[in-house]
Amino acid sequence: MASDPSLPPENRIESLAELLKKHDYLDLAGKINHSKEIFPKHTGGYCDVYTGHLVADPSYKVAIKVFRGTDKPGDIKTIERWLNREAVVWHKLKHENVLSFLGLAPDLGRFEACPALISPYCTNGTVGDYVQNSNPPIETRLSLARVARGMEYLHEQDVIHGDLKPSNVLMSDENKPLVCDFGRSSILYTRGFTTKFAGSTRYQAPELFPPENNVTITPNKCSDICAFGLTAFEVWTGKPPFSEIIYDHSVMMHITGGNTLQLPSPPPGMADRLWPILSPCFSITPENRPTIQELVQSLESCVQQS
Ligand SMILES: Nc1ncnc2c1ncn2[C@@H]1O[C@H](COP(=O)(O)OP(=O)(O)O)[C@@H](O)[C@H]1O
Ligand SMILES: [Mg+2]
Repeated sequence: MASDPSLPPENRIESLAELLKKHDYLDLAGKINHSKEIFPKHTGGYCDVYTGHLVADPSYKVAIKVFRGTDKPGDIKTIERWLNREAVVWHKLKHENVLSFLGLAPDLGRFEACPALISPYCTNGTVGDYVQNSNPPIETRLSLARVARGMEYLHEQDVIHGDLKPSNVLMSDENKPLVCDFGRSSILYTRGFTTKFAGSTRYQAPELFPPENNVTITPNKCSDICAFGLTAFEVWTGKPPFSEIIYDHSVMMHITGGNTLQLPSPPPGMADRLWPILSPCFSITPENRPTIQELVQSLESCVQQS
């Protein structure tokens, strides 16, 4: 699909050929064997994830991320824009705590112009599932603090994740946390990355809640820090933030009513050391939150002392 010339340049959608050429993405057409599952293995907010393997190496399992879309006219353009944004951010990232991007598979997308995004498949699932289902010991939970390293790398590259939460952190085969899902991510100071936020209430910084005054704040480093703290809280306690409140909408009302996350009672293990590190991440005033570099330092010294 060609770019729409009526759009301002920063909003113009690049065709698949343009995308592949301009960004040096690996074109994986014909190089992935789809497992041909009838139902997706996983579903996210906007995407379905299937599995497959490399044609050249059947032992290498891959995740095939496909935008779901709807039948609404114009949807395909929106999906193309999302795909473009996600691939633009993701393909440059290389870090041991960030899920690798392998390339685009034009033959496996749901629509002709929207290729599937290919990454190594993580059989151990998400950190969210892991802490909920396996009840790991505190040492294992602490080792997951390395997700802070992945976030530090992103912020050093001026990449805002925009939707950090336990279901967007995978467990590698070596049980290392890998930040994933760059569908809501943005690159600071880059034109064309200004879409409104539509993230996950429970893990969202309060300043990003739908505004009453029409002043929309886009995700930034401070909001990522709040999301990191909320994610780390779940990894540590095994329970989602505000787990006593069932509905996300009520969580939002609770927070906009001036309430912040409280230390659970009885306090989970190592509360005397972990709560002073995490609670500043929930500050209502974004500037009062620590930087990711400060968090990496304090979490790592906490791990060393344990
Ligand atoms: N490489 C992967 N390996 C294993 N599971 C994955 C992989 N990528 C995504 N998933 C699973 O699919 C879900 C949805 O993928 P995600 O990238 O978060 O898409 P969405 O933007 O729709 O949330 C994730 O929460 C995770 O459970
Ligand atoms: Mg996701």
